[in-house]
Amino acid sequence: MVKDLKQVRKAVIPAAGLGTRFLPATKAVPKEMFPVVDKPAIQYLVEEAVASGIDDIIIVTGKDKRAIEDHFDRNLELYDKLEKKQKKDTLNELKKIDALADIHFIRQKEALGLGHAVLCAKKHIGGEPFAVLLGDDLILSRKPELKHLIDIYNRHNASVLCVAPVSKKEVSSYGVIKYKKEQGDIVVKGMVEKPPANKAPSNLAIVGRYLLKPEVFGILEEIPFGKGNELQLTDALKVLNEIDKVMAHEIEGKWLTVGDELNYLKAALIYSLARDDTRKDVLSFIKNLI
Ligand code: G1P
Repeated sequence: MVKDLKQVRKAVIPAAGLGTRFLPATKAVPKEMFPVVDKPAIQYLVEEAVASGIDDIIIVTGKDKRAIEDHFDRNLELYDKLEKKQKKDTLNELKKIDALADIHFIRQKEALGLGHAVLCAKKHIGGEPFAVLLGDDLILSRKPELKHLIDIYNRHNASVLCVAPVSKKEVSSYGVIKYKKEQGDIVVKGMVEKPPANKAPSNLAIVGRYLLKPEVFGILEEIPFGKGNELQLTDALKVLNEIDKVMAHEIEGKWLTVGDELNYLKAALIYSLARDDTRKDVLSFIKNLI
């Protein structure tokens, strides 16, 4: 174990994006609140963080995202109604959501990019290592994927990115790393945000899970705006990687994106097939369709 290692206690979930890829559904409802089976997408992220040992979560929201705050808040009126109707199981399920973690909300006043959203959490994170979980990326797995990143951080005292192999066609949609394998570990040697296929340094794309050292905040404050005229987290991590060790963890679970309609439908289907209470009915429904 490396000396002076700080325990990972905090996570940031950026949830300020406008969800334009999913209009008109996102006109009045934040995409993070779309249900995947019976839970809003963002609840899976909170549960993954909690299952990884994190108990302090900062959700960075923007305009028209009140529903997210309401979801993690107590609704005494509803509890009262459920109590009267003797809906104990549902009531307990709702109370579990309130007790999941200490959840704080910060408002990103302008949509200036993922790097900027993370920077908004600087004051709350202070000088501690922290996790970042992106709302478009759900990961279905036995061991929470974030826990792998925390384990690597604990072993190497390095920032860690979760990565997954993607096809040549897909690299231009993601941050892509350059890396070297050292005794089975993936050591990051550079990265680029959404490169054209012929300029991609590898086929390993960054999935929305990061374990970052707090030095990244100072870098985010200094670097210029990047791709799409936004403050890019990948650009800051590239600079961090020049002065400190950054490692990668190749995803073990199933990566499901929920930021657009087709992938959202696929994710909901896969989650429903992974659940004991829905698998059988969904399977027989599909069989009857084809
Ligand atoms: C963001 C990051 C990108 C990463 C991706 C993962 O992109 O900037 O590096 O690969 O999330 O989902 P976005 O999807 O917000 O454009």
